[in-house]
Amino acid sequence: MGVLGNISFLLYGSKNFGKKGFARASATWDNSVMERRLDGKVVMVTGANQGLGFETSQELARRGATLYMVCRNPQRGEEAVQKVRQASGNQDVHLQVCDVSSLASIDSLIREWEAANRPLHVLINNAGILVHEFQPSADGYESCFATSTLGPFALTRGLGPLLRRSGPPARVVFVSSGGMYTSPLEVRHVSNEDLRTGKYDGMVAYSRDKRRQVALAERFAELWGPEGVGVYSMHPGWATTEGVKKSIPGFYNFYRDSFRDVAQGADTIVWLALQVTLQDDASALQPGGFYLDRAPQTKHLRMAGTQYGKQHVDELWAALERMCVDKVKPAVVTPA
Ligand SMILES: NC(=O)c1ccc[n+]([C@@H]2O[C@H](COP(=O)([O-])OP(=O)(O)OC[C@H]3O[C@@H](n4cnc5c(N)ncnc54)[C@H](OP(=O)(O)O)[C@@H]3O)[C@@H](O)[C@H]2O)c1
Repeated sequence: MGVLGNISFLLYGSKNFGKKGFARASATWDNSVMERRLDGKVVMVTGANQGLGFETSQELARRGATLYMVCRNPQRGEEAVQKVRQASGNQDVHLQVCDVSSLASIDSLIREWEAANRPLHVLINNAGILVHEFQPSADGYESCFATSTLGPFALTRGLGPLLRRSGPPARVVFVSSGGMYTSPLEVRHVSNEDLRTGKYDGMVAYSRDKRRQVALAERFAELWGPEGVGVYSMHPGWATTEGVKKSIPGFYNFYRDSFRDVAQGADTIVWLALQVTLQDDASALQPGGFYLDRAPQTKHLRMAGTQYGKQHVDELWAALERMCVDKVKPAVVTPA
């Protein structure tokens, strides 16, 4: 993206992504949906042991969800589960160990859920990383791509039969980022392989994969919407988390006074998840929409040159399917 596009992003972000943007948007909200309960609903949150995933887990557990917190590190995961149980008083909170950047790990999660014939009403693809060196995943892919694009694709596709059987309604949320505004839908270098040589740019990888999540939400929504599975992407805004402090310290320090807190960042994730309690939400929400502060947003900024067509999403989808074939099989469900 050119200089004009970057300026456009920073102007738009400064106005909307921080705590002032949240305050402006929230002034007119009807909060009644936030009073809803999730008793009887099974929810999975990836990247749940800290930051936005942890905050979301707490909020959903407080509302009575049967919650599966997907964490890659068993110890950090167990500590987080205990904290959520304690804070929410909900004992129906479980650790699901899985590294979402590994296809084998995802496949074993899906096999476990298939064998248990467990329902799933809401899947929140929240796990994310922003790193500054080329790190190969367990499958040899660039790690940001493996964590934010390939993993969520494989997990969502694999759990699809359970979501479709458990609904309607069922919901999938991709926690993307406003960073996606700075990237077109990159399909030529679909796994960021071009970043292996030369100077690795973690921001480029991150914004590409966040854009890919938006495109994947669109395609999953088209495919599964008619069966009652609503699929959305969203941007939490700029929220103070350990991940942000560690991965982009310069940006965080410059804008820290305008950052929103973690609860404000998680608000729209929780709000989208709670829509699963409304039978008629399909008409209220935009299928495949990109949400910030409980409202669908434009997917492209002026002068950014990021528009793409359906054929680009087809290419992305086909490439991801090829990577998953024989490695991650969708769950086979037995009738409820
Ligand atoms: N905070 C913001 O301002 C902001 C803005 C835009 C978008 N986002 C998005 O929001 C999401 C959450 O970000 P955050 O700020 O809360 O970051 P964070 O504090 O770094 O939390 C990220 C979580 O993801 C987990 N994770 C990373 N890789 C994983 C893997 N391979 N398998 C399973 N779990 C994995 C981490 O676990 P470990 O403890 O094991 O590392 C951690 O629990 C990300 O997708 C991020 O891109 C955040």
